[in-house]
Amino acid sequence: MSSTLKSLRALSDPTRLRIVALLEKDEISVNELQEVTRLGQSRISTHLGLLADCKLVTARRDGKRTFYKLNPQADDVASEFIQLAIRGAKELPEQASDQINLKRVLNRRREKAEVYFNQIAGRFDRVYGPGRSWQAFGHLLLRMLPPITVADLGAGEGLLSELLARRCKKVIAVDNSEKIVAFGAAKAKKNGLKNLEFRQGDLQTPPIEANSVDLVILSQSLHHAEDPAAALASSAKLLKPNGQILILDLLRHNFDKAHELYGDRWLGFAESDLHRWLEAAGFRKIEISIVAAEEQPPHFQTILASGEKL
Ligand SMILES: C[S@@+](CC[C@H](N)C(=O)[O-])C[C@H]1O[C@@H](n2cnc3c(N)ncnc32)[C@H](O)[C@@H]1O
Repeated sequence: MSSTLKSLRALSDPTRLRIVALLEKDEISVNELQEVTRLGQSRISTHLGLLADCKLVTARRDGKRTFYKLNPQADDVASEFIQLAIRGAKELPEQASDQINLKRVLNRRREKAEVYFNQIAGRFDRVYGPGRSWQAFGHLLLRMLPPITVADLGAGEGLLSELLARRCKKVIAVDNSEKIVAFGAAKAKKNGLKNLEFRQGDLQTPPIEANSVDLVILSQSLHHAEDPAAALASSAKLLKPNGQILILDLLRHNFDKAHELYGDRWLGFAESDLHRWLEAAGFRKIEISIVAAEEQPPHFQTILASGEKL
């Protein structure tokens, strides 16, 4: 049977005209159509099957539900049939109640989502949100990075370096531990990150050419330096003019065991000390703030400091 004849036949039934008219505004699930039209599920499914067969409507599975909508890719002939069906449905006695019921069902669908978000308003960041994580936010923020050269000093096995290497032109990861450097380099190779280079060296005298990088990062490594002020002065030398430094470290704390447990040389830093050392190293536009606080004792707080090379 030609598609024109099939469509004419499909639209010869008033219920199918009603269904086409209902799908004009939004995509609707079989259950919702059932509620609007008060027809049984199997009858509706049969009608929808016929309409889909003529390519007047399309279906989308969403878990256990199937949503239907008017075919957005309908050709000229099918589009004409759809418009005729919508016009025809307006002359049916069920038109008014169908439209009222449809409005109610669609409103309730919207309200369901609103009710949920209204319930969690004010504690949004404390409740579970599917797919929402700091890791995902990190990836999103990374996309904003321009193609720069980064020195990650005291890089460890390269957790951050690897992330950065996915966006940056080049990342040089410096660490003084031979084993960590070997492990990090092997992992970078395995992950195909050719622009991530591990170098063994001290963060106070990094094995990196002066004036060669756009960004220096010291993530939880400055408190291992023998002389943090000297380390910041060395970092400044690596940077090109207007290059940036970013430091993540611990705010000054009294948890003595950190020496023994984590090999820390310094028990974090006061904001004023970091500010003074950065200024002395030739940085301007210095910004320092506490960006995280742990809920568990000893309640470490994370400090983020940044500056731009003069
Ligand atoms: C706490 S880890 C931080 C690793 C990484 N930056 C991060 O945020 O996950 C400190 C790292 O600094 C390295 N480190 C300690 N003293 C150093 C120094 N003087 N020069 C270079 N690296 C050092 C350690 O080997 C270790 O990998």
